[in-house]
Amino acid sequence: MSTLTIFSNARAAEETPAPATQARPIPAVLGADLEVPVKGGRLVGYANLDYAASAPCLEPVSAAVTAALPAYSSVHRGAGYASQLTTARYEQARHTVRAFVGARPDDAVIFTRNTTDATNLLAGCLPEGTTTVVFDTEHHASLLPWPNAVRLAPPAFPGEAVRAADETLAAIEGPKLLVVTAASNVTGELWPIAALAHIAHRHGARILVDAAQLVPHRRLNLTALDLDYVAFSGHKLYAPFGAGALVGRRDWLADGEPYLKGGGAVRSVGESAANVQWHDDPEPRHEAGTPNVLGAIALAAACDALTATGWTELVREEERLIARLRSGLAAIDGVRELSLWGPDHPRVGIVSFTVAGYSAREVAEVLSGEYGIGVRDGKFCAHPFVRHLLGASDGGCEDGTASAVRASIGIGTTQEHVDRLVSALSDLVAC
Ligand SMILES: Cc1ncc(COP(=O)(O)O)c(C=O)c1O
Repeated sequence: MSTLTIFSNARAAEETPAPATQARPIPAVLGADLEVPVKGGRLVGYANLDYAASAPCLEPVSAAVTAALPAYSSVHRGAGYASQLTTARYEQARHTVRAFVGARPDDAVIFTRNTTDATNLLAGCLPEGTTTVVFDTEHHASLLPWPNAVRLAPPAFPGEAVRAADETLAAIEGPKLLVVTAASNVTGELWPIAALAHIAHRHGARILVDAAQLVPHRRLNLTALDLDYVAFSGHKLYAPFGAGALVGRRDWLADGEPYLKGGGAVRSVGESAANVQWHDDPEPRHEAGTPNVLGAIALAAACDALTATGWTELVREEERLIARLRSGLAAIDGVRELSLWGPDHPRVGIVSFTVAGYSAREVAEVLSGEYGIGVRDGKFCAHPFVRHLLGASDGGCEDGTASAVRASIGIGTTQEHVDRLVSALSDLVAC
């Protein structure tokens, strides 16, 4: 298969319409009317442009949690009615998450705390001697957990990512795992995950896709893209109740060391440590202790709400706003957008930039203190990548010169928020 065919297959898979559902209006987020103090003591409506860090809670998510609370009880343990109901809701949440990412019927769906927890869980289940291949462009959650990693330099163009993975995987003996983000948390750029999955499988490797920044913005279909594992976080998906998920092939997870050791993960416990029978099913095996039931219910409610709204509508609105923001930034002298693959490469609603003459921290503080705009500044837990984009050397964590400002949008972002940011930056550079 040519690289071009793989790319168009990837796009086709990503664009395949979701199963027919009744499209509903885009739901509201909590806090849309939040007012915050700015210089001089005035209150202004908060312009939250920091969705890539944590997105606000969707109203249907909050409603689902509120509805579940009166019957809240233990799961998998009690015979009482409330316990049965809560257990059913928890297990239904698993089905919803499975459907949301288009997982295969036999894939495991493990509730985790977040993406970092999910990548670390998988890292603990790799077969003996596994080599992990990972690009330097990854978020630390996907860069750091691997016991034996080969790190690849940021590729100059998408085809170069595929070529580098191809060459590297070909040279590795034994079990191998390729880890890649679906959408960069720094530039928002989409990675050629279908092509990388194809290459990984050609070399007998598996692929884990870090979908933390993709699933709030685009539909993901694990089966159509032929991915082995995906990981993501509820708090970036409008469900800030402390749950995330690892979804994928059962065998490594069934054989791996239980992530937490304790009640729920065992079938039986004998008199000695050697006499413990762990569950073979990945879900109980890796979810010891009382799980985050409300987090799982919230995560599922977010999946349901996005699916019910329909991706066409969500993507259209996001693309309109991000195009307006990027052209506004491009028109300001001294503002430089960070990009790995150029301005025309497809991306989600995330833009990082620098402002000549100001540190990222200064810019973020002015935006907050004078305009009521929330953005993120720093290296976004992707130190090697941000340094690469800025052409900076490793000045350490506190090195403000190797930092950028990030604006990120989602459901609830308005045109006024975007215009306020552009106008604030124009004022700043004019000073
Ligand atoms: C691409 C990506 N991966 C992983 C993570 C880690 O997510 P969490 O902090 O929810 O574990 C983030 C968070 O910013 C991210 O953007």
